[in-house]
Amino acid sequence: MRLSKRLKAISEFIDNNDKIIDIGCDHALLDIYLCNEFDNIKIIASDIHEGALKNARNNIEKYKVQDKISLRLGDGLSIVNTDEIDTILISGMGFRTIKDILSNTEKMINVNKIVVQSNTDVVKLRKFVIKQGYKITREKLVKDDDIIYTIIEFKKGKEAYSYDEIYFGPRLLDNKDDLFYEYYSKKLLKYENLLLQLPKYEVKSKLHHKKLIRIIRRTLIIK
Ligand SMILES: C[S@@+](CC[C@H](N)C(=O)[O-])C[C@H]1O[C@@H](n2cnc3c(N)ncnc32)[C@H](O)[C@@H]1O
Repeated sequence: MRLSKRLKAISEFIDNNDKIIDIGCDHALLDIYLCNEFDNIKIIASDIHEGALKNARNNIEKYKVQDKISLRLGDGLSIVNTDEIDTILISGMGFRTIKDILSNTEKMINVNKIVVQSNTDVVKLRKFVIKQGYKITREKLVKDDDIIYTIIEFKKGKEAYSYDEIYFGPRLLDNKDDLFYEYYSKKLLKYENLLLQLPKYEVKSKLHHKKLIRIIRRTLIIK
């Protein structure tokens, strides 16, 4: 089965004994792939849209993994019991939706691991999940169809982070690879152009962008 580079990279954050809920599974291709990779895995694949779940059901039957995946229709964590999961997987959604889903803390008492790939506001995502009582244990950038995505693994626990660590990702800063330089060079260019276009009265926004430009330059070691 062929999986996109993005979903393949997300799959590498999953372990054999994880009790997973994949929220917003859509086609469930990631879950089917995981079932083929791991013998012990149990997955609840959920989606808020019936059409998506129908697609998922067809794929699950096609690949004959019905015994390992339980399909559920509904919003976020509402369709799960606390003792059924210890790992949350969310990918391909925006930060606001992810934040709503991960605000249901009553359902997260046994959740030790959260793997997230948000399409927007990765910095806000880091701040929010840390506030929920998790620390950042792994991060990876992946380029798929010319878009660079950030995948973050959180585990229960506390860790203090600097401004730069929240902005760039502490684990990405630990190990800056070529994609890191590509990703933040592009951001730097974007912010420099934006700064030139911002009108004088946008004082706050100008200051904010100047700060970002400064820290990106410092991190990429550009004079
Ligand atoms: C763009 S798809 C991403 C599919 C897959 N996770 C991926 O990364 O390719 C987002 C899916 O999330 C579902 N979704 C959006 N909000 C949701 C929510 N609150 N609870 C469950 N599913 C949701 C949508 O119906 C859609 O199928």
